[in-house]
Amino acid sequence: MTSPPELKTLFQNFLHHKNTTDNLDSLGPWLQRQVTAYSFPDANQIPFRSAAYTRNRVAQENSGHDQGFEALIMRWDEQVQTSIHGHPEFSFYYVISGCFNMDLFAHASTGRLRLTESKRFVPGEAMWFLGQAGQYDNFIHRVTCLETGHTFHIYSEDARKGLAFGGSIEYSCNFTPK
Ligand SMILES: [Fe+2]
Repeated sequence: MTSPPELKTLFQNFLHHKNTTDNLDSLGPWLQRQVTAYSFPDANQIPFRSAAYTRNRVAQENSGHDQGFEALIMRWDEQVQTSIHGHPEFSFYYVISGCFNMDLFAHASTGRLRLTESKRFVPGEAMWFLGQAGQYDNFIHRVTCLETGHTFHIYSEDARKGLAFGGSIEYSCNFTPK
């Protein structure tokens, strides 16, 4: 996949904002404002695999290293569901097309995970989370694709460092690395 130059520009502008702000809480709102000004590729330009979701890294802060921020576009087949998983410190999700359900979980006193909220996301909607640096169980969630589509993501590190949870909760994982 050829990386769209518009997204690389967005990512470079984001890195500049990140490196010049002393308020990391501003990262999500900054991105939400900016993504609406960029033209994303159509879903049919993104690699697709049936019954899976495909990860496409479109930009990286430190090319060739797993440290630093990265930007991804994912394409999702209908009914695909991720594992219940966490992420590095910062995560940003933006729906370009399709419809998605996100289940959010918290650690319960029993040591298990507890479902706290389910949200539906449609095109133009964004979600972000700022958690603890150096931890990989921030923003524990599961995504289900209700209608095939594609999404834009920015993470503070390689998103695959996030912890996946099993335990007493049933889940299926259709993770397909690039
Ligand atoms: Fe995720």
